[in-house]
Amino acid sequence: NSDRINIAIDGPAGAGKSTVARRVASLLGYVYIDTGAMYRAVTLAAQRSGIGTSREDLLAELVSNLDITLKPGDPVQRVFLNGEDVTGLIRSREITAGVSAVAAVEPVRTSLVDKQRKLALAKGVVMDGRDIGSHVLPDAELKVFLTASVEERAKRRYKESGAEQGYTLEQLEREIAERDRMDEQRLVSPLVKAKDAVLLDSTNDTIDEVVQRILELSRGRIAEANSQ
Ligand code: CDP
Ligand code: CDP
Repeated sequence: NSDRINIAIDGPAGAGKSTVARRVASLLGYVYIDTGAMYRAVTLAAQRSGIGTSREDLLAELVSNLDITLKPGDPVQRVFLNGEDVTGLIRSREITAGVSAVAAVEPVRTSLVDKQRKLALAKGVVMDGRDIGSHVLPDAELKVFLTASVEERAKRRYKESGAEQGYTLEQLEREIAERDRMDEQRLVSPLVKAKDAVLLDSTNDTIDEVVQRILELSRGRIAEANSQ
């Protein structure tokens, strides 16, 4: 299967990673993997067990006993936690507010990164997150760092689900800025653009334009992979 490549898409919250990654995967016939959903599922399990982020030992034990499964679905991938469909639950405000602290805990990352690498072994994967190009899949043939201004990202989220979830636009902007800060400043694999990632600022671009640009880049990388 030398014609298949892996594509890493990283960037801050609300940049459009999951929307774009899902479409690119579908157009190429690849598998889409949402790694943020895995961190969210661990956060749900931790909140249910009442384990705070200061208890690294308990979190390490918790994560090693969790069965997190991602199932491709239309329009969204479904997420299962020990067999329970938690797709909706992991998008709640409580989980969103707690996830970056759980994701900063080293044993949580080690365990999830290990799962993520296994999922990408067969190639033909589009994976989105924060550390995919920089840490999880350093050999991915195409790395994209997708961003947009924080105002634009808050607006997108507000339109999508913000009002429904009871956020004001200002609260969303603060929540997103705070999560960006935690993701960028944590010690273990922080959010950073990999040196060899292509920077795409989508502040003024539609979803379609971003998808077309990534497809174009993919075609180039697939051709390169085949000529080697
Ligand atoms: O969709 P949204 O951008 O709101 O977030 P997400 O992709 O579901 O990720 C939720 C959180 O998980 C992020 O804010 C990070 O703290 C963490 N995360 C991470 O640390 N590493 C990843 N590869 C993916 C997510
Ligand atoms: O995964 P990430 O947090 O990076 O963002 P997302 O959940 O894919 O996108 C957040 C929202 O922005 C979604 O409702 C997308 O439809 C929308 N979006 C947009 O309006 N324009 C773009 N260029 C990209 C995403």
